[in-house]
Amino acid sequence: MKKIIIAPSILSADFSNLARDVKMLEQIGVEWIHIDVMDGHFVPNITIGSVVVKSLRKITKLFFDVHLMITNPEKYWRDFKKAGADLIVFHQENLDDKKKLAKEIKNSGVKAGVSIKPETSVEKIEDLLPYVDLVLVMTVEPGFAGQSFIEDMVSKIKCLRKVIDAKKYNCLIEIDGGINFQTSKVCVKAGANVLVSGSYIFSSKDPTEAIKSLSI
Ligand code: DX5
Ligand code: ZN
Repeated sequence: MKKIIIAPSILSADFSNLARDVKMLEQIGVEWIHIDVMDGHFVPNITIGSVVVKSLRKITKLFFDVHLMITNPEKYWRDFKKAGADLIVFHQENLDDKKKLAKEIKNSGVKAGVSIKPETSVEKIEDLLPYVDLVLVMTVEPGFAGQSFIEDMVSKIKCLRKVIDAKKYNCLIEIDGGINFQTSKVCVKAGANVLVSGSYIFSSKDPTEAIKSLSI
């Protein structure tokens, strides 16, 4: 079985103690953290900018998975790359030339991913699969932590897994939204290999156990 990567979303961390929370994740042994960038246009919420990513880069070597929920990702992605992102994920829905952006990101030396909202079908990104390292399937409407997992997304993950395996693309499937010890199992079974989880981990009394429960 392939390795399952857990990417805790720091959107649910304590922002007045962000360094402490990131260090805690590091000590638990996670390899990735998921950073949710929202601009109040593409989604109805404003969160983290590149200055925060830059500050965090100084205190950790963890893999930074940066999820851009913003209008004009082609204009801003370089700021996040300079700040220390390892993977830049843009959305399918707000961009004309997605191949160009994926190529530019990869040529810059970091990994590229594309994300799809719950209403966006796998067909919409099929032609992009050879150019990206990861597809992020949103299992809630992007914008806020703490929402409930949308069950209908399981068939989308299965469909994507079929396409990726059939064509032997080197592309991870990441899921994001409403992931806990139950929904994680369903998604892994359907073919996901990167699990984002925010409120489940950070609201738990024992984040180590919470993280463990996601991958077993
Ligand atoms: C939602 C974000 C998610 C969010 C997940 O738009 O993309 O990464 O932080 O939070 P939970 O795990 O609480 O659903
Ligand atoms: Zn996210």
